[in-house]
Amino acid sequence: MTNNDNRRSEKFYITTPIYYASGSPHLGHVYCSVFCDVLVRCKRLLGHDVFFSTGMDEHGQKIEKNAKNAKVLPKIFVDNVTNSFKELWKILKIDYDVFIRTTEEKHINNVQKIFSKMLKNDDIFLGKYVGWYCVDCESFWSDSQVKEEKKCPDCSRKVVKKEEESYFFRCTKYIKKLLNFYEKNSNFCFPISCLNEMNNNFIKPGLKDLSVSRVNGEWGIKVLENDKHLIYVWMDALFNYLSAVDFDNSDNYKKFWQDKNTKIIHVVGGDIARFHCIYWPMFLMSCNYRIPDNILVHGLIKVKGEKMSKSKKNGLDPFLLIKYFGVDTIRYFLISEIPFGYNYNLNYERFVERINILPHQLGNLLNRSISMILRYFDGEIPIFNSSVTPFDKKIEEKMFLTIKKYKENIDNLNISEAISVVFIFIMDVNKYIDDASPWILFKNKNIKELESVMAHLAHFLFVIAILLSPVFVNKYNIILDQLGIEKNLRKIDLIEKFGILNNKKVKKSELLFDNKKNDEMIEYLRSIN
Ligand code: ME8
Repeated sequence: MTNNDNRRSEKFYITTPIYYASGSPHLGHVYCSVFCDVLVRCKRLLGHDVFFSTGMDEHGQKIEKNAKNAKVLPKIFVDNVTNSFKELWKILKIDYDVFIRTTEEKHINNVQKIFSKMLKNDDIFLGKYVGWYCVDCESFWSDSQVKEEKKCPDCSRKVVKKEEESYFFRCTKYIKKLLNFYEKNSNFCFPISCLNEMNNNFIKPGLKDLSVSRVNGEWGIKVLENDKHLIYVWMDALFNYLSAVDFDNSDNYKKFWQDKNTKIIHVVGGDIARFHCIYWPMFLMSCNYRIPDNILVHGLIKVKGEKMSKSKKNGLDPFLLIKYFGVDTIRYFLISEIPFGYNYNLNYERFVERINILPHQLGNLLNRSISMILRYFDGEIPIFNSSVTPFDKKIEEKMFLTIKKYKENIDNLNISEAISVVFIFIMDVNKYIDDASPWILFKNKNIKELESVMAHLAHFLFVIAILLSPVFVNKYNIILDQLGIEKNLRKIDLIEKFGILNNKKVKKSELLFDNKKNDEMIEYLRSIN
């Protein structure tokens, strides 16, 4: 399929990480899933074929421990947590194609099969592990990494000394191959600085063979050849990306993994970049499976300078935030406020400032435009004519430029910028109203020009609603309802065709954004500073 500007339709497989089913979701998880969802919707809007997966990482000692504390079986525990994530994604309209759980039989079979394959080709061998272990991160560390304080370099919690039999993956065999791969694929990670970090922090200091099994614990996938051992949760978890497309003999797998024309994009937080940029490609090399095209590494949301996390219990409750502000406002805040790839310190004033843009810019534009069309033309959008007032030509050009920049940014996976371009256009249109001053045109009975301004405004609102639809999954339809445009005309292919809205009847309905604050909400949000 091609769009009206002759773009070719491409195929994408986009994934979120699978979240640990160790506790309730917080705003950090929401950020990642919303980012992916907006990316997916943007790509689909431009006519691309996207498969979108998300899911839950349900094995491991941490979960076993949490279930024990909660006095329930691990399966019951993960069922509950997974349900709360699923409920959240439903409310947030995360439009995934598949929700994969690592406790699903098909996934368990895949991981066992892959582990056996690596064992057979001698990339996995049985040895002995001596080192420092962090239960919360399910990671082993060396003496130099845990330093004097014997703390986990990732989460700063105390680590414990461990010596046990373990299977190992021969990372050392793949270091050269990996560096070669990095060299040939310099845009494998985004931000690009990420590859340097991997190199300087993990590869150059000496990457050791990775322990890929555990002997203590019950809650995990057994090594088929030696059922004393459970497969390391990270190896288990990474292969979710294959299970989600029904590895290894389905149409989905062929279409979205094996077909080189499909772009495979993993979106992950900076906390797990090393697993995706180092171990994941190595595992895939070992099995001779295709390596993904991009790992997009986003920053972490911090509260009072510390990473928001389940175990630190400092996460903002997304259900409450949505109750106060609504789905679209939270989605907008996350996409527009947080620069991709950077950590972000959450702050009450910035939050309020950002979300106030919505009623002031977008809400106001819709409100004044619809009110004027009702007042001056009894609600009927006048016939569109180009370049009637001295301001028309310039704003029409800005509209075409906005659409062009929007598409280019989406092509470059620059989602926040794509949305920001639309908001700049919203400011331009508000200025266009002030410049054209329709109330004076009305007073002076300058009907031709007044008609032109109203027809332009209606068309621009149509464009804005369509371009913002990946973020404002509920509100964009409210805008289009007010413009009286039929469902079958709500298409990006039509936004560059002036006249689509000729003679449509506008109507006024609810306020688009009502940021009325209540005491409870202020209290809750102030607690983050
Ligand atoms: O690491 N800010 O799961 P997880 C922004 N199961 N994003 C955050 C965040 C924060 N404070 N906290 C979490 C795991 N995230 C593994 C992944 S994938 C094969 C296995 C987001 O639940 C971020 O994207 O601890 C992070 O990478 C992801 O949630 C998973 O965190």
